[in-house]
Amino acid sequence: MGCQYHDPNHNGATSFTVAMPRLTFGRGTLSELGARATRHGFKRIALFTDPYLLDGPLIDTAKTSLVNSGIEVSIFSDIRVEPCDDTVTRGAEFLNSGKFDAVVSVGGGSVIDSAKGALLVHQHGGNIIDYFAAPIGQGKPVPSPVLPHIACPTTSGTGSECTSITVIRINNLNTKFVVAHPYLLPMEAIVDPQCCDSLPPNVVASTGFDLCCHALECFTAREHTQHAKIENPNIRQYIQGANPFSDMVAKEAMQIVDQYLVRGVNDSSDSEARDKLMWGATLAGIAFGNCGTHLPHAMSYGITHLMQDITTEGYPIDSPFVPHGISVVVNAPAIFQYTAEATPERHIQGALCLGADVKGASTKDAGEVLSKRLIELMRDTHMPNGLSGVGFNQSHITALAESSIRQSRAIANAPRDSNLVDIENMYQSALSYW
Ligand SMILES: [Fe+2]
Repeated sequence: MGCQYHDPNHNGATSFTVAMPRLTFGRGTLSELGARATRHGFKRIALFTDPYLLDGPLIDTAKTSLVNSGIEVSIFSDIRVEPCDDTVTRGAEFLNSGKFDAVVSVGGGSVIDSAKGALLVHQHGGNIIDYFAAPIGQGKPVPSPVLPHIACPTTSGTGSECTSITVIRINNLNTKFVVAHPYLLPMEAIVDPQCCDSLPPNVVASTGFDLCCHALECFTAREHTQHAKIENPNIRQYIQGANPFSDMVAKEAMQIVDQYLVRGVNDSSDSEARDKLMWGATLAGIAFGNCGTHLPHAMSYGITHLMQDITTEGYPIDSPFVPHGISVVVNAPAIFQYTAEATPERHIQGALCLGADVKGASTKDAGEVLSKRLIELMRDTHMPNGLSGVGFNQSHITALAESSIRQSRAIANAPRDSNLVDIENMYQSALSYW
């Protein structure tokens, strides 16, 4: 099915590229940082992290490994969750202030994305806003590589260590946008599941649904053959639509979600489940780094733009705050009910990978089958009940849709076209599920 889906008769792209960092995965590998940095000849490193990790054991391990290898380390930790353009500017100024050979990021997606943004602005100047596509920014070109980056995730969801994407909040627009460029891909990813041992259940659930949606969105994304032909191979983007490689990796990640998400959330001592989720997050990151997400991520940005006054257990962050994975999954069952019409077989296959019972399901049941399985997983991991579970009601729907419609690239990667009214209808269906 994989290759048949990528029908070459769409008159679009006829090829795709696979890119990922050199990847090291396993317990204890964070302590290999010094050896890897030495191998590249780095002498002076900027270590990006956040204030919550700064004085903890993970930064101690990373720093000790680097220092014991004879490397000089300077730490930048002025990074908030949901990093904004100001964070990037401060990070770039930090890089400007020292003659660094490379950046190491140790943290969740916010830290890794801040590092990518800071590397870009440090190397090529301006403000991160300049690099967003029009009409938000000017689509400023990225003419040459940035400094090398070794990314070390500490949550099992982001996948950012394996992508050429950074997601940054623009303060004066109060919402997040994406910069994607091949030069933003880290040169190495060191993924150590031990970093997730102490994560609270709700963080494992939220990041787990981020990974689940990365994989499911890739698997159901518009085929790369329906995107524009590649005219210049040297500016080929890795965000290119579904392709046989992203399909393969996404399927494996979804099967991991089926087998281990509920276990990993409900039993913090289940290290097998938690390690598998970290591997699943890595695979899902590789998938969306080579494909791109679609409507669940696009519509999550409306939620983070208009967050209501609620708090989420497990996150040491002031209200209003909705964790990224939760902002993505609360809309997902409604969205896949909508998109299933375009590619029902893909949606049924996705549901099957996530553990749904698809016996006897016909193509017209595809949306229902997939949506039902997502809702089961949400209920089994104590997720909020749709939009109403994160503080929204009917009166917010127009504003949510008007915010999210600006995410044109992700919306165009969905298998079915949607306009403002369609997005309003999806938010309406996402208000509550049970
Ligand atoms: Fe995500």
